[in-house]
Amino acid sequence: MSLNTTHLNQSLTHFDHHSSFWLFGYGSLIWKAGFPYLECRPAHIRGWIRRFWQGSHDHRGTPESPGRVATLIPEAQAICHGMAYRITPETLAPLDVREKNGYLREVTTLHFDDGGSAEGLTYIATRDNAAFLGPAPLENIARQIALARGPSGPNPDYLLNLADALRRLGHRDEHVFALERMLTSLLKEQAPPTDP
Ligand code: BEZ
Repeated sequence: MSLNTTHLNQSLTHFDHHSSFWLFGYGSLIWKAGFPYLECRPAHIRGWIRRFWQGSHDHRGTPESPGRVATLIPEAQAICHGMAYRITPETLAPLDVREKNGYLREVTTLHFDDGGSAEGLTYIATRDNAAFLGPAPLENIARQIALARGPSGPNPDYLLNLADALRRLGHRDEHVFALERMLTSLLKEQAPPTDP
């Protein structure tokens, strides 16, 4: 699949005729929506795990030094916690552009943490997209994140903010938290010594 998924996403018309619908965020959307919304509610989706397996050449890295950001990988019985936003259809167009680096809209069932469920959308970077990096030893992923920065800022901020946001929501994600521990110690090693 081509690197730029904007046009593919804009040909997907689910929810176009709804006055509002739910969008599930599991990455940067948890801590920084950056778009207008009508309400937000902690929620989860079933059958997916969050993994730092997607390359970021345009936000948290560059083509020469790509960062790593979150995508969802199918896994039976898994639960991925995040945040649901009720939005209007016009909100999707700028998101399609912002998330053009391989993410595609996917229709999914959102389960609200305080009960109830709704059909909605999420963005997933699937294995066949050109920026997909896939699995690697956690230490290698943490090292790659430590070194990358792009137009949206340092790649470490993405991971550290996500880990913080999940903790504030009261959810554990061992993949994210293990990467956070490794990254924190790498950043300490890299920090210049302070004066005595
Ligand atoms: C997110 O859920 O934070 C997200 C949104 C768009 C693309 C990838 C992830």
